[in-house]
Amino acid sequence: MKILVTGGTGYIGSHTVVELQQQGFEVVIVDNLSNSQAWIVDAIAQITGIKPHFEQFDLADRALTADFFRRHNDLKGVIHFAAYKAVGESVEKPLMYYRNNLVSLMNILESMAANGVPNLVFSSSCTVYGQPDELPVSEKAPIKKAESPYGNTKQISEEIIQDTLHADKRLNAIALRYFNPIGAHDSALIGELPLGVPNNLVPYITQTAIGLRPHLNVFGSDYNTPDGTPIRDYIHVVDLAQAHVVAVKRMIEGRMKASFEVFNLGTGTGNGVLEVINSFERVSGVKLNYKIVGRRAGDVEKVWADPSWSNQELGWKAKRSLDEMTASAWKWEQAYRARAKETNQ
Ligand code: UD1
Repeated sequence: MKILVTGGTGYIGSHTVVELQQQGFEVVIVDNLSNSQAWIVDAIAQITGIKPHFEQFDLADRALTADFFRRHNDLKGVIHFAAYKAVGESVEKPLMYYRNNLVSLMNILESMAANGVPNLVFSSSCTVYGQPDELPVSEKAPIKKAESPYGNTKQISEEIIQDTLHADKRLNAIALRYFNPIGAHDSALIGELPLGVPNNLVPYITQTAIGLRPHLNVFGSDYNTPDGTPIRDYIHVVDLAQAHVVAVKRMIEGRMKASFEVFNLGTGTGNGVLEVINSFERVSGVKLNYKIVGRRAGDVEKVWADPSWSNQELGWKAKRSLDEMTASAWKWEQAYRARAKETNQ
């Protein structure tokens, strides 16, 4: 059974390709490599023994997307990861975010409909909840006005999908709202690979520990939380990837309760930044150099998931602990840097 994974050489995409292949799916990757590298395809093959078919082009190009779908009209579903995701950059370059994230989604939906490809899994985010009024946050929580153009693209994307499904009853979609994915595959052959200076916490921690950054800035310690830092629901990327396989199977096997469904992907546990640092220091044995500085604009104080609907309906549960997340991220950083030194990757 053939599945298209857009953004399949990216961080969450590559982990999902591995899980799909290991569950017997045939995977086709489309990625424009704007934030990932071609050798990831070989790393995936090294893990699974199967090299996925890979095409490099931009899904925001309507003609190329239409041509791709005409050639692959036997697809059973699409998992759409390919999108920009840096909150700060989206504030600086809103049109770049709207154009890339929304146009590519529209092109994909149009081509799915034209070629009878019925099932879409969409990468959404807990950012759609803003600072929720109630914690933990369930799928029933109201969508708050987006804090950034990036967050707005996720909200608008979910609306575009729902309107399209309303007009074309052959289509189904599942939006997966991710909390904070971190960690890496056990093999340390794939992991998070930010371009330039990382925006996100864990790659910043591991790059600091390995000596690429002088210190980590902890953005604020005066929040109304136990350790004064913002609380997030960190989830192991492999747990997250496995949820995509479950979602695809649910669609293909006709077990959806409605043509559009939404699921939170989190552990249900929140941790502060200092707890993540403590976990990293414990599992790595490395003392991290960090400084507490002012708050980062746009950060919400606390958000963690109520994953009970996902647990019940998908029969999926995040299993890996925070220590497993930070340990795997550290193993990946070390392995990647060692390989890069050898091969000038
Ligand atoms: C954000 C978005 C999320 C998006 C993700 C991808 C929100 C609520 N979340 O996650 O939707 O998918 O980015 O880019 O908008 N931190 C530091 N120092 C650093 C980096 C981070 O202290 O150098 C802190 C942050 O203040 C935050 C926590 O670490 O409290 C996690 O930050 P980060 O990893 O960037 O993720 P979010 O901002 O939660």
